[in-house]
Amino acid sequence: MDDVTEFLAIRQLYNAAIKQVRTKLEILNDGFQVEHCHNPIHHIECRLKSPGSMLEKLRRKGYPIEMQSLREGILDIAGVRVVCNYLNDVNLVADLLLSQDDIRLLKKKDFISNPKPNGYRSLHLIVSVPIFLAGTTEHIPVEIQIRTIAMDYWASLEHHLKYKTENDVSDSLKCRLKHDADLLSAIDADLQDIFCQMNA
Ligand code: GTP
Ligand code: MG
Repeated sequence: MDDVTEFLAIRQLYNAAIKQVRTKLEILNDGFQVEHCHNPIHHIECRLKSPGSMLEKLRRKGYPIEMQSLREGILDIAGVRVVCNYLNDVNLVADLLLSQDDIRLLKKKDFISNPKPNGYRSLHLIVSVPIFLAGTTEHIPVEIQIRTIAMDYWASLEHHLKYKTENDVSDSLKCRLKHDADLLSAIDADLQDIFCQMNA
């Protein structure tokens, strides 16, 4: 296989892994609605890393520009973002997904229990899913970010603000961004409590 054909075949594998994870999440969400009259998931976003971003990350990490380092060193080629309604839904969705026999957990970063110093909150999982091909099975890594609507709101705006400015953000603005993340976190906790009381 030439390099271009191999690259296209690999992208197709990661695309299949995204579809697999998305379908699993949708089935979990629908099942939860039937059994508990509650949808833990507000919406799901998926993205396949662009060839340009793959190259940039290989260079940034100092890996050789080759298929093997791409497959072994870049674990976020397939990305799925799960935006949940309530705080408790984040761990619920993660636990339900990870309890499935064919899902393997490779890495977990809990930025909700331990937020980043800038205020960023999210649960990050890297899992691998089997993709069945004619004659072989490939285990493909997928980065899954699970967060509430409030965490997603903050992360989207913070990302946008960061990439908008060429200059360094002043300490006072960083401090206000962190403060807003903490306010949203308090709102998440309160809305969870209201939900629990209304469904008691
Ligand atoms: P990357 O090289 O960016 O993939 O980082 P990493 O491999 O160390 O992974 P990490 O789990 O820290 O972050 C992965 C992804 O989470 C990023 O690509 C962003 O989508 C998101 N993320 C992490 N930190 C922040 C943050 O401070 N702000 C925002 N808006 N998003 C973040
Ligand atoms: Mg990334």
